[in-house]
Amino acid sequence: MITLSVIKADTGGFVGHSAVHPDMMQAAEAQLKERKEQGIIIDYQVARVGDDIALIMTHRHGADSELVHRIAWETFQATTEVAKRLKLYGAGQDLLKDAFAGNVKGMGPGVAEMQFEERPSEPVIIFLGDKTSPGAWNLPVFRMFADPFNTPGLVIDPKMHDGFDFEIMDLRENKIARFRTPQESYDLLMFIGSPNRFVIRNVYLPGGTEPVASTSTQRLSLIAGKYVGKDDPVLIVRCQSGLPAVGEVLEAFTQPHLVEGWMRGSHCGPLMPVGFEQANTSRFDGPPRVVAYGFQVNRGRLVGPRDMFGDPGFDRARQTALEMAEMMRRMGPFEPHRLPLEEMEYTAMPQVMRKVQHRFQPADQDAGEAAGAR
Ligand code: F6R
Ligand code: MG
Ligand code: MG
Repeated sequence: MITLSVIKADTGGFVGHSAVHPDMMQAAEAQLKERKEQGIIIDYQVARVGDDIALIMTHRHGADSELVHRIAWETFQATTEVAKRLKLYGAGQDLLKDAFAGNVKGMGPGVAEMQFEERPSEPVIIFLGDKTSPGAWNLPVFRMFADPFNTPGLVIDPKMHDGFDFEIMDLRENKIARFRTPQESYDLLMFIGSPNRFVIRNVYLPGGTEPVASTSTQRLSLIAGKYVGKDDPVLIVRCQSGLPAVGEVLEAFTQPHLVEGWMRGSHCGPLMPVGFEQANTSRFDGPPRVVAYGFQVNRGRLVGPRDMFGDPGFDRARQTALEMAEMMRRMGPFEPHRLPLEEMEYTAMPQVMRKVQHRFQPADQDAGEAAGAR
C-alpha cells in the first residue's frame, strides 16, 4: 500500500496574495529532498497555485501519519522563514498554531490523503485551487463520477456502470454520510448543491474502502472561528481502468462554474482552469483558478508532473470564465457577486451596524419620530 499526501498552505505571498516567491519553492524543495534521501518519503513534488504551496508526497506511513505531517509542518516553517526574511505578504498566514501537535489538520494547512494498492498503471491528477473553498470541487467531482453527459464511461464501460459512492461532509455539524449514484443522485445533489456547507470528501467504488478521489475539507474560518486566511482546496483523482478516463476527469472543468473565495474571500467568481504558467492570481486578486498536476505513480515514485490544463483545448473554458468574471464584476458590492453577509470572510457589517443601529426603528413607527432618531 502506498499513501499519497497533498498538504498545502499559504505561508506568504509574492506580490500581495498573487504568487509564491521562487526562494520559498526552493526552501520547500530542499526540505523534501532531504526527507527523501533519508528514506522517510518515497518521492515528492513541490507544487503551487497562486499564493499556495502544495507538498505532494508519497510514502508508506498511511494517512494522518505524524511523521509525514511533521515534515509538512517543518517545511512550511522553512518557507515562512524565507517569507519573513523577504518581508513577503502574510508570512506564515495559514499556520494557525505555534507548535506542531501531531497532525496538521486543524492547524491551518489543507490536507487530502489517500492510501491505496497501486494498480499495474496508476494515473493520478492532483488539482490545486486558489481564491476558492473546498465546496468548489462538488460540481466537477459530481460531473466526473456521476454525470454521463461528462463521463460516457458511466454508460459504456461495464466496470463503471454500477456507479460510485460519494462520502460527503457537513462542515457545520462535522458529520459524514455516504450516497450511492446513480440511485441516490437526487438526494446527493440536494446536499452538495450547497457547497459552503456540504462538501464531497471522498469517492469510492460501490461499497469500497479505498478512495478513488479525495478532497481537502478544512475551512480555516470554521477552525479559528473568524476570518484568518483562505481555504484554497486540493483534490486527488485516480483515473482510468474502471475509473473516469484522464480526459473525462479534465472535461469536468470545461464549463466554468461560480465559486466562493474571490477578493477578500467575500466574492463569487468563475473557477478558471489554467496551465502552470498562468497560475498567478492578479485581476481583483483572481479570478479563482485551478491547476492540474498529472502523474503516473510508479512503485510510489511520482513520474511527472504533466501540466494537464496547459492545452489549447481549455482556451475556450478560460474565455468563458473571463466573460463570467466580467459579468460578475459589474455587480460591484452587490450580491450575488458579493457573498451573503453570513458567508463573507471579511465584513465591516458589525461595525457599521453598531454605528447606526439606533437609527433602526420599528417599521410601523411614525415617519417624523424615525427622522428624530437620526
Ligand atoms: C487572500 C485573498 C485576497 C485578500 C485581499 C486583502 O487570499 O483572497 O483577496 O483577501 O488582498 O488582503 P489584506 O486584508 O491582507 O490586505
Ligand atoms: Mg494569501
Ligand atoms: Mg491562496
